[in-house]
Amino acid sequence: MPDWASLRAEFPLLDRYVYLNACSLGPLPRAGQAALEAYAGAWMEKGTPAWYSDWLPLLDRLRGRVAELLHAPPGSTAALVVTTHLFFTTGYLQDVRAIAAAANAAGALCVIDGYQTVGCVPVDVGEIGCDAYVGGALKWLSGGPGTAFMSVQPELLPRIEPQGTGWFATQEPFSFTLQELTFAPDARRLETGTWAVPSHYAALAGLDLVLSVGVESIQERLRDLTVYILERCDEAGVRTITPMERERRCGIVTLECDHPEEAEARLHADAVIVDWRPGRVRLSPHWCVTEEELERGMDLVLQHVR
Ligand SMILES: Cc1ncc(COP(=O)(O)O)c(C=O)c1O
Repeated sequence: MPDWASLRAEFPLLDRYVYLNACSLGPLPRAGQAALEAYAGAWMEKGTPAWYSDWLPLLDRLRGRVAELLHAPPGSTAALVVTTHLFFTTGYLQDVRAIAAAANAAGALCVIDGYQTVGCVPVDVGEIGCDAYVGGALKWLSGGPGTAFMSVQPELLPRIEPQGTGWFATQEPFSFTLQELTFAPDARRLETGTWAVPSHYAALAGLDLVLSVGVESIQERLRDLTVYILERCDEAGVRTITPMERERRCGIVTLECDHPEEAEARLHADAVIVDWRPGRVRLSPHWCVTEEELERGMDLVLQHVR
C-alpha cells in the first residue's frame, strides 16, 4: 500500500486547502514544478537545439508512459473524443467493456472518453475492446491543462482521416509540400502542429508520479474516501446522485443543492475547494486528502449545502 502521508508532501497545496476538486484540476506536484523549471531552463540555455536534446526525447517518454497507463501498444497514441468512461456529472463508472462489445456487435466503432478515469481507474484498452480511448493529463494525472492523448486500435489507423490537422500529421513534415496532403501511415497522422512542450513537461511529471504510486491503489483509496462522503450525506439526509455500489464509482460524488454556486464560494472562504454544476455540488477528493481533513471538510460541506 502506498504511503499516503509521505506522498502528500509532493502536493504543497494540500496544506492550504481541503482539496475536494481533483476531478477538475489535479494539484501541481513538486515534480511538476521542477519539470516546468527544467523546460524553461532548456529553452533559456539552448534555444533551438533544445528540440533535439530535450523536447523530442521528452515527447517519446511521454508517449511511452501513456501507453503504459492504457496498456496500449506503443506507437498507437495521439488525440480525439466521443462517449465517457466515468460521468463528470454523477460519478457513475460505466461498464465500457459491455458497451464496446455491444457497439462492435452492431457494427459500430466505439470511442471512450477516459478523462475522468485515467490516473484513478485502471485502464486496459485491449481488455475494454474499444476502437479508440482518449484521455488528458489535467485531472487525475495532475499534469495541468494542454496535454491530451488517444490510443487507437492499429488496424483502424489507415481508415482515419483527421478533419483538423497540422504539419506533424503528414507523411513527411519536413518536405514542406503545400500542394498535397498525405497523412502519415501510423498514429502520427492524428497529430497536429508544434507540440505544447511546457504542458508535456508537467504531464510527464504527473504521469510518472501516478504510475509510481499505482493506479489500483489510487482507485481503492478514492473509493474509501467517496464511500465516507456518501455515508455522511446519507446520515445528514442530503441526496446524492452517485452510486453507492463500489465498482460503479471512483473519485466523484455529487450532491443535490439548490444554491450550489453560493455553497462553493462559502466553502472556498472556509478553505475547502469543491466544484458546482447546476443543482449540484461536486466533490472529488485528492487521494492524499486525510481522513481527518475529509471529516472536517464534510462537516463544512453539509453545513453549506443545506
Ligand atoms: C469527461 C470529460 N471529458 C473531457 C474533459 C475536458 O476536455 P477538454 O480537454 O476539451 O477541455 C472533461 C473535463 O473538463 C471531462 O470531464
